Amino acid sequence: MSAKQIKRIGILTAGGDSPGLNAAIRAVGKAAIGERGWEIIGFRDGYLGLAQDNFMALGKEHLSGILTVGGTVLGTSRDKVHRMMVDGQERDMTKAIARNYRLHRLDALVCIGGGGTQKNAMRLAEQGIRIVTLPKTIDNDVPLTDATIGFDTALGIATEAVDRLHSTAHSHHRIIIAEIMGHKAGWLTLGAGIAGGADVILIPEIPYDLEKIAAAIRRRSKLDTKFSIVAVAEGAKTQEDAASFVTAERRRAKAQTVEEKGFAKLRLSELEAEHAGNTLRLAKQLEGLTGLEARVTILGYVQRGGTPSFGDRLLATRLGTACVDLLANGAEGIMVASRGHGVQPVPIESVAGRLKLVPMDHPWVASARSVGTCMGD
Ligand code: F6P
Repeated sequence: MSAKQIKRIGILTAGGDSPGLNAAIRAVGKAAIGERGWEIIGFRDGYLGLAQDNFMALGKEHLSGILTVGGTVLGTSRDKVHRMMVDGQERDMTKAIARNYRLHRLDALVCIGGGGTQKNAMRLAEQGIRIVTLPKTIDNDVPLTDATIGFDTALGIATEAVDRLHSTAHSHHRIIIAEIMGHKAGWLTLGAGIAGGADVILIPEIPYDLEKIAAAIRRRSKLDTKFSIVAVAEGAKTQEDAASFVTAERRRAKAQTVEEKGFAKLRLSELEAEHAGNTLRLAKQLEGLTGLEARVTILGYVQRGGTPSFGDRLLATRLGTACVDLLANGAEGIMVASRGHGVQPVPIESVAGRLKLVPMDHPWVASARSVGTCMGD
């Protein structure tokens, strides 16, 4: 499709919100309207708005003043296109979405989101929707892009928290554990742990041995440093727990019958439930093993809220404007990845269903170890 043929595009934000989403909407909108003369409509609450035809026409007036605002003016949801709750029933809405796309005479759809969003986008591309995505998540776990929108802001917030915990931990001679978001990926914890000078960093990719952490803290005590800061990712696990998850995941992958699949899913949700209070448990265990008092700070949604950092505003603006240029040049079925100072279009199918995890030999891990940080192994 050539530039001339595009008249109207749609846009939505999906998955967990992250700072910089509005900056991305603004960039796409301003470049589409101002530079190309296209119309743009925004669907509310992610793919749900597209399925229910809940939308707003975006004009210049909606795009002014949102660069620095957190969240997303379009709203978001984690709804999946092929398994959406409609009237109390789970339904496949891919066909309904394709109908609404055509009803609005859209020439393309821009979807801003993380891993789930990429998978949904791929399903819609299979329905003939011309789709381009932008990578966003505070977890930074989307493959083939240097960074995702929201990560830099969350990294700043988590680092400041780790910084601030030092003085109180020092004053009370305590262990303070900061639980940091990131689901299955440790980027945020590793980055904030290094930048904030945490003594122990625990990430999902490196299962930990409790005794090794306690030994590192005791060593500090012997040197008369009777406090420690532990940065722990919400998904970090002991070596034993990680092994149980791996077994359950393998069983799920191998499951053939409906019963086997149901059983494997149940086992995984049982494990998730057992894991839920992990950070509080870790604090109790470390108290027992070190004789120091331990406290927990769960950073939670603070990491996703508020003003985007300069870095995220810049990234969102770079990716958003490049997205419009790529569309004008006929792009479809691609994610606009960040590469150095520029961008790189990558096929959505090469990112959908894949996670970018921290490799054991990543330079950040090596740096953390080199400054004496205990990685729990
Ligand atoms: O994907 C971003 C993220 O903040 C993860 O770090 C976290 O595990 C998850 O979302 C929380 O999800 P929800 O917003 O659905 O509670």
